[in-house]
Amino acid sequence: MKAIQIAIDGPASSGKSTVAKIIAKNLGYTYLDTGAMYRCATYLALKSELTKEHISMLLAELAAHPISFAKAVDGSQEVFLGDKDVTLAIRQNDVTNNVSWVSALPEIRQELVAQQQRIAASGGIVMDGRDIGTVVLPQAELKIFLIASVEERAMRRYKENQEKGIPTDLETLKEEIAARDFKDSNREVSPLKAADDAIVFDTTGVTIEEVVSFISEKANEILDK
Ligand code: DC
Repeated sequence: MKAIQIAIDGPASSGKSTVAKIIAKNLGYTYLDTGAMYRCATYLALKSELTKEHISMLLAELAAHPISFAKAVDGSQEVFLGDKDVTLAIRQNDVTNNVSWVSALPEIRQELVAQQQRIAASGGIVMDGRDIGTVVLPQAELKIFLIASVEERAMRRYKENQEKGIPTDLETLKEEIAARDFKDSNREVSPLKAADDAIVFDTTGVTIEEVVSFISEKANEILDK
């Protein structure tokens, strides 16, 4: 059976990773959370107290601690840097609040995009991020761009953080999400932007199941062709 590439882009907490995971599972495809990779680079920068002036050292850190993914017993995804489990560490506020400057560094993007394209070369894939449809997989057969209001996205992240035991204030979260949207959309390299051939879907007030079924229908239309 033919395998396709599905690119799911959109701003922070637009529901990308939740739906991407379900769709990948249903199709038996690889799921790749590219945001986790930028978070890993940020974690390394913070751990070694590196700034944007230390790009070659940061690239060396990334080479010394390869990013990999594994499946936990409960089916959730685990993220590793070398042999260190950083699944929870990369979701902490210090990483979240620094990821915009790290992900704006062209050299870091070049390295991580190359890794993402290598992973995609091995078969059917659902990849979520900011530049998947525009830069990483411009040939993807299906491109989805998910959006949602800042209020709704802040509430989703708030609930997620509560479940993970990460202390958060809702108002602060709204401000951080709006600030991250602005930085992600206005950076020079690969800004957050829908590809011309992407389907833009507003998930405000829409359930996860509804988003999944919309994307699955589109995927099936392509697979049945
Ligand atoms: O999806 P997320 O919130 O975990 O992503 C974290 C950050 O990584 C986000 O603020 C922007 C950056 N990112 C990116 O620049 N390009 C991607 N393909 C994915 C994420």
